[in-house]
Amino acid sequence: MITDLLLQRAGEFIRQFYSESNRGNPDQRLREIEEEIEKSGIYTHTSEELQFGAKIAWRNSNRCIGRIFHETLEVLDCRNLSSAGEVMNALEEHLIRAANGGNIQSVISVFQPRHPVTGKEIRIWNPKLIRYAGYRTESGIIGDPEEADFTQACMKLGWKGKGTSFDLLPVVIEMPGVEPVWFELPERCVLEVEMEHPEFEWFSKLGLKWYAVPVIADMVLEIGGLHYTAAPFNGWFMETEIGSRNFGDPHRLNMLPEVAARMGLDTKNDRTLWKDRAMLELNQAVLHSFRKAGVRIADHHTASRQFITFCRKEQAAGREVTADWSWIVPPMSGSSMEVFHQNWPNTVKTPNFYYNTPAWKSGSTPDSAKGCPFHISGRIRHQN
Ligand code: ARG
Repeated sequence: MITDLLLQRAGEFIRQFYSESNRGNPDQRLREIEEEIEKSGIYTHTSEELQFGAKIAWRNSNRCIGRIFHETLEVLDCRNLSSAGEVMNALEEHLIRAANGGNIQSVISVFQPRHPVTGKEIRIWNPKLIRYAGYRTESGIIGDPEEADFTQACMKLGWKGKGTSFDLLPVVIEMPGVEPVWFELPERCVLEVEMEHPEFEWFSKLGLKWYAVPVIADMVLEIGGLHYTAAPFNGWFMETEIGSRNFGDPHRLNMLPEVAARMGLDTKNDRTLWKDRAMLELNQAVLHSFRKAGVRIADHHTASRQFITFCRKEQAAGREVTADWSWIVPPMSGSSMEVFHQNWPNTVKTPNFYYNTPAWKSGSTPDSAKGCPFHISGRIRHQN
């Protein structure tokens, strides 16, 4: 039963791979895979299949505005690693390669997939590889409220942070059938950018900073019926992710009121548009600071234009573009960009990246048993 489904998915993927990359007849490879599945309940992607699958999973990610770059993804094949220490070393190398001295490179590290029969799997507990802790205290949360649950899980494992607003969280790795272990992130692996504003001198006194490389670590990469439960990947930031959302969201660092007050705006009256003006300056500061630090970052206008180009290219290749409008349209100045005026079907193609239940929540169900992850999210806009 499981193997029938796996065989079917494998077949679909291999046929797509052979046809898109003009590789001729896939029959021999299909027979090989069938044999391997019959013998062991699993099959092994060649490194070319893995590369192709990971890139197409990115191309199919309906919520990503940066998909025009999917062909530049660097795929690190880490499937042979078997201890948490080895995985941690690979993650450190991933971060250094991705940071690339500021000229951020998109990288994915792919570790061994979940075994379809035994269910054994590797999990990286972190939602993102680099994030700041959020500590619940009597007087509110110190740090990033979005990481409060994960921070608590780390502390349960014996990790202890300094208690500042920008403590780097540890990396928590769970190998199949083994208790999770945590590792402190070495400083040399984490590039950070301190925030200043091109005109407002007071801005740097806010003490804001952010890390340079966004790495999603908790999604499942599905290729040809195999689930890569540990396959962290990174791109580079678009400035609104930090300026509008990480700094601006009321349930995140909630900086709009303070920035507006420092700008001398009347925050009692919505009609002064103090939130809009403060948000604009936060985004300006992020762009300015990254530029000054020599770290690659996209602005939302350029990213939107690139996405429209991606759509045209896809159509020219005879493929229908699928996308999630509410995620593609940037969180400020929406209607000033062409993406705002578009409509896409939000259907899910495969290969793709899927949500998973947080590994630290007990009795975690494999995502395959939970139905379509894109439909459990309802109207909530996730933070990825
Ligand atoms: N928005 C997330 C964060 O601030 C990162 C999501 C991925 N972003 C990207 N540009 N690839 O941590």
